[in-house]
Amino acid sequence: MSNNDLAIVILAAGKGTRLKSSLAKVLHRAGGRTLVEQIVCSSKMLKARETVVVVGHQAEQVAAVVEPLAALTVLQQPQNGTGHAMQIARRALGRAKFAFVLPGDAPLVRTDTLKALIAAHHNGNAAATVLSAVLADPSGYGRVVRKSETAVSAIVEESQLTDEQREINEINSAIYCFTLEKLWPALAQVKPNNKHRELYLTDAIAVLNAKGETVLAQVAADSREVLGCNTRADLAEVDRIFRDRKRNALMDDGVTIQLPETVLIDPDVTAGEDTIIEPGVQLLGKTKIGARCTIRTGSVLSDAILGDDVTVEPHCVVTESRLDDRVIIGPFARLRPENHLKAGSRIGNFVELKKSTIGEGTKAMHLSYLGDAKIGTKSNIGAGTITCNYDGFQKHPTSIGNKVFIGSDSALVAPVRIGDGAYIAAGSTITENVPSDGLGIARGRQVNKPGWAAKKRRELAATEKPKSASSKRKPRRRAKKRK
Ligand code: UD1
Ligand code: MG
Repeated sequence: MSNNDLAIVILAAGKGTRLKSSLAKVLHRAGGRTLVEQIVCSSKMLKARETVVVVGHQAEQVAAVVEPLAALTVLQQPQNGTGHAMQIARRALGRAKFAFVLPGDAPLVRTDTLKALIAAHHNGNAAATVLSAVLADPSGYGRVVRKSETAVSAIVEESQLTDEQREINEINSAIYCFTLEKLWPALAQVKPNNKHRELYLTDAIAVLNAKGETVLAQVAADSREVLGCNTRADLAEVDRIFRDRKRNALMDDGVTIQLPETVLIDPDVTAGEDTIIEPGVQLLGKTKIGARCTIRTGSVLSDAILGDDVTVEPHCVVTESRLDDRVIIGPFARLRPENHLKAGSRIGNFVELKKSTIGEGTKAMHLSYLGDAKIGTKSNIGAGTITCNYDGFQKHPTSIGNKVFIGSDSALVAPVRIGDGAYIAAGSTITENVPSDGLGIARGRQVNKPGWAAKKRRELAATEKPKSASSKRKPRRRAKKRK
């Protein structure tokens, strides 16, 4: 069977009533992606001719998620059950001879498991092959009723189980492989004989069996792969398993993760060998980390690109920023989007950066805000330096050259340029450009008054009265006398 004969159908039209949410079930997230994205991604590896997603509830939002992944969508309106959803998908399946049907709410299935299922379907010349699982607690799932060790006679939904069938602990994962020319006539015979008046795809199994067709069930090696997300507790469990898989994959690639269960890593994140990730770290989005980096506790990196040997000290927040080799930031640094920290630069505690370039070897170690700033190499930005980039209407740039020294507590009012090698005196409010190698000083001139403090103390002592007497006086009269 070539992949050209195969279509994937993902059933994602339902509301997910049991989640008690205004968001459609398949748009809930687990493992850093929406459920429906997870399934489209794992089924994509099968390289089927078509991936069709049946949408209904919040159809536009679901389509917006899956269409960029090259999946087609068909609209099921109203949602009259999984069998009805499959009938709706039919027109989009083209010349496919076989279809994988996957529910939108069971995202943990691995591509290898799907490949094994399709092989079993093919080898057994089956009309339908069901992926099943044996669970200690099968409640909530449809049960697989077998007629022999290999063959299946029916799938019975929880609400329709006989007492005897209730004892069965082999469940239907709702992942199946169908031979389509056999499925369509069987589905046409299914009746909505259930309390929801829905057409159940599961009822097609009994029809196929009655027609003498072969229906197989293959038990998943790892029953956790078929977990469905019907409740918030299911979502949390599925998320936990995805996160576990991702951390294990990174550890296999040579990354050290301390107390792994406390670390959250999104699926597209990469990290190089001998990188160390401390407890309580979150690596999100498309974050890419080089080799031998250390990401210390409590730091959150989203869409960050780190070179090699970078250190992120505890409790930093880094968003959409690039940190080249040997950069050190934090503790407690905040990098808002669009920063580029060049090799060997250092950003210290309580420093906030936005849309700024920090040149090689440049340091801003304490209590600063640098926004829309371009800073050259080997400059030193003193404690408390602020680029005043916003005038209440627009943002303006600050340019600082190479080997510049900005004294502590300076305010650089943008737009402004500080030339190479210039000095800014501490406490200056700089409103004009400073030329290369010049000194910019812009603050009130200091005046020292010799003996002033001693004289003041003598005057105060002279007016001071014994405590018992002074406490009876009204404060207003005392103030007058001092004059
Ligand atoms: C289904 C199976 C059950 C199986 C379980 C595994 C049926 C009737 N039952 O039950 O045997 O044990 O999955 O998790 O199939 N959907 C549509 N259109 C509809 C109805 C549902 O697209 O009209 C989609 C839903 O969005 C969902 C999937 O089909 O992604 C399964 O529906 P759900 O309501 O979760 O079925 P379960 O009760 O879990
Ligand atoms: Mg379900």
